[in-house]
Amino acid sequence: MADLAETGEPIRIALLGSTGSIGRQALDVIARDPTFRVVALAAGSNTALLGEQARRHGATVVAAADAEGLAALRAEVGPGTTLLAGEAALVEIARRPDIDMLVVGTSGIVSLRPVIAALEAGTVVATANKETLVAGGHLVMPIARALAARRAAGDALDPLASPLAWLRPIDSEHSAIWQCLVGERLSTVAGLILTASGGPFLDTPAEAFATIRPEDALRHPTWRMGAKITVDSATLANKGLEVIEAHWLYDVAYDAIEVVVHPQSIVHSAVRFVDGSLKAQLGTPDMRLPIQYALTFPGRRSSPAAAPDLLAAARLEFRAPDEGRFPALGIAREAGRLGPRASAALIAADDVAVARFLDGSLDFPGIPRLLEAAVSRTTAMTPADAPEPLLADVVALDADTRAWARTFRAAGPAA
Ligand SMILES: NC(=O)c1ccc[n+]([C@@H]2O[C@H](COP(=O)([O-])OP(=O)(O)OC[C@H]3O[C@@H](n4cnc5c(N)ncnc54)[C@H](OP(=O)(O)O)[C@@H]3O)[C@@H](O)[C@H]2O)c1
Repeated sequence: MADLAETGEPIRIALLGSTGSIGRQALDVIARDPTFRVVALAAGSNTALLGEQARRHGATVVAAADAEGLAALRAEVGPGTTLLAGEAALVEIARRPDIDMLVVGTSGIVSLRPVIAALEAGTVVATANKETLVAGGHLVMPIARALAARRAAGDALDPLASPLAWLRPIDSEHSAIWQCLVGERLSTVAGLILTASGGPFLDTPAEAFATIRPEDALRHPTWRMGAKITVDSATLANKGLEVIEAHWLYDVAYDAIEVVVHPQSIVHSAVRFVDGSLKAQLGTPDMRLPIQYALTFPGRRSSPAAAPDLLAAARLEFRAPDEGRFPALGIAREAGRLGPRASAALIAADDVAVARFLDGSLDFPGIPRLLEAAVSRTTAMTPADAPEPLLADVVALDADTRAWARTFRAAGPAA
């Protein structure tokens, strides 16, 4: 059953990536509502925080990324806690019959296998993680659609008959589109509008891009997020990844997904309908609202996020993105069109490109150069008649692209 919030029973949650930006905000949302119960938590290297979260939220299952983390966790949690480690632990957690929802806030491809495992077990997934759809959209969406079809029984207006009830987006833009689509038929959608803040370099001339430092890129004008996604917002790669996610989530053609720069970050995204209506969702830049919506769908509950004050905002501005200065957007859109191999390579390369920008081994313009080279490389290696990649192929491609990207030399000033 997907209408978890309506049953009156506690909603038992497993949270992957609990120590990250999304994970910490998810725990904040969960702690405010007694109907949520944390069963399992998993994270990477921050075992001190993971242990503290497990104690505070009463998790009975806790997973670290590796054996070293597992050893560190032993000192942090009580004797009755089940301790696990590694990617297999995430899959084991995802399949547990005592969880109602898998909430995913991990970075990277590590959660793709657990997401598939949860959906195959008929468990609702709420995910912020981008790899799930960018690299694995062709793998996860058919399972979500099959789960929705079981419920559908011909009633297309039942919100729980939607794949989105099973694979719930947490990203604010995709949550906005989801909220606009409730009660609507997908066949009446003419297009989607994803809004982008434009990041800190919205008005920076292209000539200055080579001198952008990590600390400049990490200064996002409206959102407080993890470092990787903050840099992705500065290059607009994040918006490109979101275009690919939107394609998979809403089954909308790439040509019908528009990106509009909206520096105030109040209109989170919008849907155009065939009758000329444009429906948008507005909110303040606070991830706790889309996180909570994913947890309580189809219901709404009071939340710590303040509603936007339109009079105080006074002016809502919209501009076309400058794809000349921000080529990552077009590169990502093209990777999406090319298919799952190109988009899997794109997102793997982007993770390395951002890490290299932050450690100083790649300059800011080098990020889109690396992305373009990664997509071209994968396309060149893929026979025209290659079938869609299986999970193992996607994971192997991710590892291969990462290894290649670490040694990539951009043909630019910082090469
Ligand atoms: N932050 C936002 O506002 C936001 C908004 C929309 C979408 N997203 C997307 O949500 C995802 C998470 O973003 P974030 O900003 O929260 O990232 P983050 O702050 O870097 O957190 C990543 C989380 O993943 C965990 N992790 C990393 N490797 C792991 C592994 N092998 N096994 C288990 N856990 C692992 C980390 O654990 P440790 O810290 O313990 O190593 C941490 O808990 C990304 O895909 C991002 O693009 C984020």
